[in-house]
Amino acid sequence: MILPSFLSLVLASVVAAESIHIPLTRRNPLLARDGSVDLNKVFNAAERLRGKYGYGSTPSKRQGQTVGIPVINQGQDSSYLGNVQIGTPPQTFSVVLDTGSSDLWVPSTGCAGCDSETPTFDPSKSSSVKQVATGGGDITIRYGSGEVSGTIIQETVSMGGFVNTAQTMLLATTLSDGLINGATAGIMGLAFPALTSTRSTPFWVVLANAGQLASEEMSFFFTRQSTNPAAGDLSPGGVFTLGGTNSSLFTGDIEFLDLIAGTQPTFWLLRMSEITVNGKAVQIPTGNAALSAIDTGTTLVGGPSAGVQAIYDAIPGSEPLDGQQKGFFAFPCNTKAQVTFSFGGKAWPIDVNDMNLGSIGQGFCLGGIFDLTLGSSLGDSPGNPTWVVGDTFLKNVYSVFRNTPPSIGFAHLSTAAGGSGKHHIFLPKLSQ
Ligand SMILES: *[C@@H]1O[C@H](CO)[C@@H](O)[C@H](O)[C@H]1NC(C)=O
Repeated sequence: MILPSFLSLVLASVVAAESIHIPLTRRNPLLARDGSVDLNKVFNAAERLRGKYGYGSTPSKRQGQTVGIPVINQGQDSSYLGNVQIGTPPQTFSVVLDTGSSDLWVPSTGCAGCDSETPTFDPSKSSSVKQVATGGGDITIRYGSGEVSGTIIQETVSMGGFVNTAQTMLLATTLSDGLINGATAGIMGLAFPALTSTRSTPFWVVLANAGQLASEEMSFFFTRQSTNPAAGDLSPGGVFTLGGTNSSLFTGDIEFLDLIAGTQPTFWLLRMSEITVNGKAVQIPTGNAALSAIDTGTTLVGGPSAGVQAIYDAIPGSEPLDGQQKGFFAFPCNTKAQVTFSFGGKAWPIDVNDMNLGSIGQGFCLGGIFDLTLGSSLGDSPGNPTWVVGDTFLKNVYSVFRNTPPSIGFAHLSTAAGGSGKHHIFLPKLSQ
């Protein structure tokens, strides 16, 4: 039997000091009455001593990391995806990076309602999958755009080199129509635990709790491919930084604003404090009706009826759409709609190209902000957002979702991240 050199050293010193015989098979107190030594106890005592004086092989808490994960832009700014590895050996999936929900799911083999080209997870090919009993019946996760149901598993999940060996997640067997398409194979929820339907701790929270993140932040730079005629269905989407920020992607300071949270946080919520259209403030709802979910998993921006109406009232020639498109608005394509949002601090401009989703005929173009609530007052209940601030806005800023203290930060994109690299400086009007 070959002992590790370290153990033989311990034994040598014990042997020398005590000059005793060591029966290797016995488990006794450190020094039993018969004078023999318990190897485990010797080993453990030495380890404790090393720990006390800061030496030793016991891993001290692993240093937190900051990792940049490439983002995939799908469907010219429709969705922003990141790759996640699931199972042993790992199967890779491109999932929506979604700060507007908290569950993780991917489609399972035998999924009903998946496109034939949708990648699926085959649990029979993973040695680390564990089924989780849910007391019968499937679990359903509901989103604004549809729902997904299936069974709960625990699996090894990794992203950007961060690993959770016991991630609770949903293996989807039924998807509602159009919830995902093409290369999208699931959703990675990046909001708070109180929102989960799978009773799981979200992947990012597990990493934060385990001290794996250098700082408890998730940061995004998203590309704009809608103005790039060469962009295919899948194109470079930016960078998702897990565990911090990447200073080469923004310029100036990050403006952090405290999260609006009740007893426990749910969505990443701020309050919409001011909207301007072509330089003039418009009247928007206040209080609970101004709650805004900052949501990377939503393509456009949705808002309360009165606020959205006020925005389009300030865009000359705009018209509400009807029928199936009720809630959407169009405006003359040659009109520039320069909109800014502010959440209690700076005003952040939305590029006019993001407000204009393209022609719908007769010289009209579809607007990037739509009426989410359609007159319903449901949104006025505390904690329920009436604004959902998606990628139409988020493409225009570097965004930071910070756990401690709970806050959201915005900064101007650097030139490396496709921004102008300049601070927007609003000069006072010069009087002549
Ligand atoms: C920060 O972003 C730049 C530009 O995308 C990239 O080259 C660099 O590797 C990133 N750094 C980290 C630590 O991710």
